[in-house]
Amino acid sequence: MARRKKIYEGKAKILYEGPEPGTLVQYFKDDATAFNAEKKAVIEGKGVLNNRLSEFFMTGLQSIGVPTHFIKRLNMREQLVRQVEIIPLEVIVRNFAAGSMAKRLGMEEGAPLPRPIIEFSYKDDKLGDPLVPEEYIIAFGWASQQDLDDIVALALRVNDFMSGVMHGVGIKLVDFKIEIGRIWDNDFHRLVVADEISPDSCRLWDIESGQKLDKDVFRKDLGSLTDAYTEVARRLGVLPSNVTHRPRPTLIN
Ligand code: C5P
Repeated sequence: MARRKKIYEGKAKILYEGPEPGTLVQYFKDDATAFNAEKKAVIEGKGVLNNRLSEFFMTGLQSIGVPTHFIKRLNMREQLVRQVEIIPLEVIVRNFAAGSMAKRLGMEEGAPLPRPIIEFSYKDDKLGDPLVPEEYIIAFGWASQQDLDDIVALALRVNDFMSGVMHGVGIKLVDFKIEIGRIWDNDFHRLVVADEISPDSCRLWDIESGQKLDKDVFRKDLGSLTDAYTEVARRLGVLPSNVTHRPRPTLIN
């Protein structure tokens, strides 16, 4: 049997050559990293949960007309995706101050922002993904002004969708990161949401208790990351059958 070709290995995922030209198989690892890979661990079951959750968000986005790279889930850890040319930017959308923004501006974590704020980081692990202004993005040719306008529109639609879905299950979408890819058709390209959307790349807080249900649990040693992600999957009704979870007590009137 021929071994499949690995195209790229990142911190949390591996990309293999797909069955058709223009496709890739995206494999979700259990590896967790934080602080630019200074902190590392293997968290059993994380890849399975993120595969399911990313499928859930990507198919939901497609159902409202937001293009994504997602084609279909193949198994517990793998999904078939369109091959794209990744724009080397992390597109971050924030609804509440947290993380690097709270630190940079001395803001209280959780302070509401006047409107969703979008920021861009240049994807480069060696440089620690530095925040970059739009001026740099255009001057260095990472994206055109038209691309940037389209990226902002896409990011805001993703935010509306994700905020609504999460609100429906009692979770506040504090912020998230997406990556955008180009799909070329001769001389033209269109932009799609690529990579993954999962609790690895979002901040998700329980609306009632403020409990963190995202990768900050790992970054800040707040407990079990699998329990947090399982809770998100359970609330969204996408819990894979072989991931065990403790039933929560229900209030009977
Ligand atoms: O750390 P910071 O506050 O800038 O992160 C903003 C959001 O982007 C968080 O939801 C975080 O999980 C996500 N992020 C990410 N990958 C990075 C940097 C940030 O998914 N490399």
